[in-house]
Amino acid sequence: MSARKGVEREFPMPIVVVVGGQWGDEGKGRIVDLLARKARVVARYSAGNNAGHTIVNERGEFKLHLVPAGIFYPEKTCVIGNGVAIDPDVLLGEIENLRAKGIDTSKLLVSDRAQVIMPWHVLLDQLDEKMRGNAAIGTTGKGVGPCFIDKVARRGIRTADLLRAEDLGPRVRSALEYQNRVITGVYGGEPIDADQVIARYTELGQRLAPFLGDSQSAVLEPHRRGEYVLLEGAQGSLLDLDHGTYPYVTSSVPSSSSSGAGLGVGIGPTDIKRVVGVFKSYCTRVGNGPFPTELFDETADRLRDHGKEFGRGEYGTTTGRPRRIGWLDAVSARYSVRFNGLSALALTRLDVLDGLETIKICTGYELDGTIVDTLPARQSVLDRVRPIYEELPGWTDATSEVRNFDDLPKQAQAFIKRVEQLLECPVDLISVGPAREQAIIVNPIF
Ligand code: IMP
Repeated sequence: MSARKGVEREFPMPIVVVVGGQWGDEGKGRIVDLLARKARVVARYSAGNNAGHTIVNERGEFKLHLVPAGIFYPEKTCVIGNGVAIDPDVLLGEIENLRAKGIDTSKLLVSDRAQVIMPWHVLLDQLDEKMRGNAAIGTTGKGVGPCFIDKVARRGIRTADLLRAEDLGPRVRSALEYQNRVITGVYGGEPIDADQVIARYTELGQRLAPFLGDSQSAVLEPHRRGEYVLLEGAQGSLLDLDHGTYPYVTSSVPSSSSSGAGLGVGIGPTDIKRVVGVFKSYCTRVGNGPFPTELFDETADRLRDHGKEFGRGEYGTTTGRPRRIGWLDAVSARYSVRFNGLSALALTRLDVLDGLETIKICTGYELDGTIVDTLPARQSVLDRVRPIYEELPGWTDATSEVRNFDDLPKQAQAFIKRVEQLLECPVDLISVGPAREQAIIVNPIF
């Protein structure tokens, strides 16, 4: 410690990051909704409307793709950071839908540095998937990948550019001069008319204008005043461009893993003190790509359709696609714990396992007679690994009404303790149903 007394830069309350630990759809929205009770600010920092949250509360069921889940608390500021790719049509539609159901959206702030998903991004996403044929990534087709490609290529359009036709016009014309050649020449598609885009996006810019601002101040100022700030990731970490199952990943820059959080709102790593990883009690994946513990039997159907009659089955929020289902994969999960620097786990959908005779956890992979205990980098290797399972006894009692860890069936407690050991991280929160109160708080995160 320095002897000299100077300016202090320590703030009393931690900034907490919440990330999905697997391939997405772990129930982050539900966990953020729960943690948001204490936070002053809830911010999204990456990805786009490829993400989707389903939130059930007293106002009904909501599917959000861009607006942070904290919007249901009127006193919170909700921030969409510079790291998010924004489709203005989708965002404005979401805002209108929330307003129509009586939700106050006046505290929503959208970064003026965020990239905009333009019509050519959506078209290119779809054309590119078609061209890849059998090797398609299985994208959500929302234009997110091409938008981030343009960000990195320095050809992107940012939300601030939408505010004035004088700024937007030249940027759209220059982007389309290039993109129309790609659309027609590479993919054989129809060119996009620049004038129509400029007129439409100037109008969208006017509607978006009241929400635009600086995400850095929106996050840091309350933090300095001693308020809690929550940063929410989008897709699961195993879809991370660097650490995920490349090339079957999402193209978000910054990534949805915890390392992208500061970058995506405009703060540095020293301001972030805790990272919570949300994991399902089993595993799901949408889109193509390796999934070592994938199941194709009746257990998969049972887990997928649990609660389907209440809209709770394993079907994508964004695309409606049935999710691929498998047992909890502790190998990839531990890898995710490590590269996210997780300080706590939130385990979701424990109740979905109720009634199973046995529950399996993958503790290693078998590859040509050897045991592998970390996620291989090569896709062709990942495709060949075989899961090694540990089998744990299941439980018959329903867990959805349980609110204390000690009241869970002993087998469920043993399952959770084993998850902690294998993932090398404590489980601080368990969810046992979609409603806000259906949670077991083992250790308070805030
Ligand atoms: P993209 O993000 O639309 O380019 O899709 C790339 C990959 O990420 C595909 O496998 C998608 O299914 C997957 N993906 C993107 N967003 C989500 C999400 O919110 N949940 C689950 N998977 C997602």
